[in-house]
Amino acid sequence: MSRLIVISNRVSAPTGSHSGAQGGLAVALQAALAEMGGIWFGWSGEQTDAFTGQVNLHRGDGYTTATVDLEEQDIEEYYNGYANRTLWPLFHYRIDLAEYERGFAGGYQRANERFAETVRPLVEEEDAVWIQDYHMIPLGQELRNRGCANRIGFFLHTPWPPRRLLGTLPEAAELVETMFAYDLIGFHTQEWLESFCDFAQRDMGAEIEDGDVIRYRGRSVRVIVCPIGIDAGEFRTLSDSETARDTFRQMKLSATGRSMIVGVDRLDYSKGLEERFLGYERFLREHPETRKEVFLLQIAPPSRAAVETYQRIRNVLETLSGRINGEHADLDWVPIRYVNQGYSRDVLAGVYRASKIGLVTPLRDGMNLVAKEYVAAQDPEDPGVLILSRFAGAAAQMEEAVLVNPYSAEEISDAILQALRMPRAERIRRWRAMMDGIEREDVLWWRKRFTDALLEVPLAGPKAG
Ligand code: G6P
Repeated sequence: MSRLIVISNRVSAPTGSHSGAQGGLAVALQAALAEMGGIWFGWSGEQTDAFTGQVNLHRGDGYTTATVDLEEQDIEEYYNGYANRTLWPLFHYRIDLAEYERGFAGGYQRANERFAETVRPLVEEEDAVWIQDYHMIPLGQELRNRGCANRIGFFLHTPWPPRRLLGTLPEAAELVETMFAYDLIGFHTQEWLESFCDFAQRDMGAEIEDGDVIRYRGRSVRVIVCPIGIDAGEFRTLSDSETARDTFRQMKLSATGRSMIVGVDRLDYSKGLEERFLGYERFLREHPETRKEVFLLQIAPPSRAAVETYQRIRNVLETLSGRINGEHADLDWVPIRYVNQGYSRDVLAGVYRASKIGLVTPLRDGMNLVAKEYVAAQDPEDPGVLILSRFAGAAAQMEEAVLVNPYSAEEISDAILQALRMPRAERIRRWRAMMDGIEREDVLWWRKRFTDALLEVPLAGPKAG
């Protein structure tokens, strides 16, 4: 049986426990590796004076992690630069925030060559290689350049932007061309997949064969829609944990009979936090009779703090939450509790369960697992209501959420009122339908769908060499 080599910018060590502050993706990949055996390779998160390519190996339960340190210039140009100043904003439709600099593009290419050089000796003949996310788009090509004839798949966890936006990236065609080195590319939604094909076809002259195979200059790649899910069973266990129950009780106590609205997001401009606060403020203004029945708890741990756009959104939110609280708060009520730290998933499970409304309103999001975890944490007899951006990948699978346009303060305000007034029978009906989907298309389903498709690819095809 093939081993799996997972490659991503961030690597999680095997912990044996799922209650830590890890994201759903880390949990998903850990499970895949534990089952198939193999290696998880990526950046150590550490800086070294000069790149040596020395691998830090940690053998854990079921799989091994292998990480490599990067030098300062790589971190600046590859991670803070091309990944987070160029591709992240562009892929989230924010070309107004994207920075196009040749130095970043060069650093990104160099870091990917270094990753390829380092991981190549670890890959054995029968291994299947699975590369994750926008940090490492050209890595498959770099592995091919080093003689890797293995099956190589790529999964994008962000949206893929429409062709007119991608066309603003100076090296867009070169970047997309490297993707034909893969055997399989996965996207969370049909929309992201179609945008990819659209660019390849109309801007590069690629041809679609058999519906899901694209051919370009003699090479072809299969594309699939494969939406990531959560481990529903694991999340139910977390929601039943002592920590979750304690948190639930504390939250109920501190809510003093008011309904809690919760948001949990990395502090990122793509999450629509400014627009969310403005939508909530509109609700406070338009519904003075109900406003003191609720409060908003926004948990937003800082992220990518070295990048200026992230510093800016942090300042904007501090000012905005201060203004809204200053204008509306009363002796016994603060409308927004704005918290800049992260919590472990068992604490979050308790917070979700204690909330009447989950407010998940990114302006653009590849999937968004908070939406799924919020639903999975609810009490089936008295579930809360999910308000979800129609521009999150999750909306394609969660039509029974209250879907909103996150740019519209009016729609957010209306949705809050609708959710507060929603009869219990309707809440249960919507929750059940969403929960069925979460249980059916869970993280195991996602992982299997992708790796099964990858393993179907015949070995030593035209990609070899
Ligand atoms: C998104 C990306 C991931 C990334 C995560 C956290 O979910 O798709 O690849 O790891 O954000 O961002 P960070 O820059 O801290 O790794």
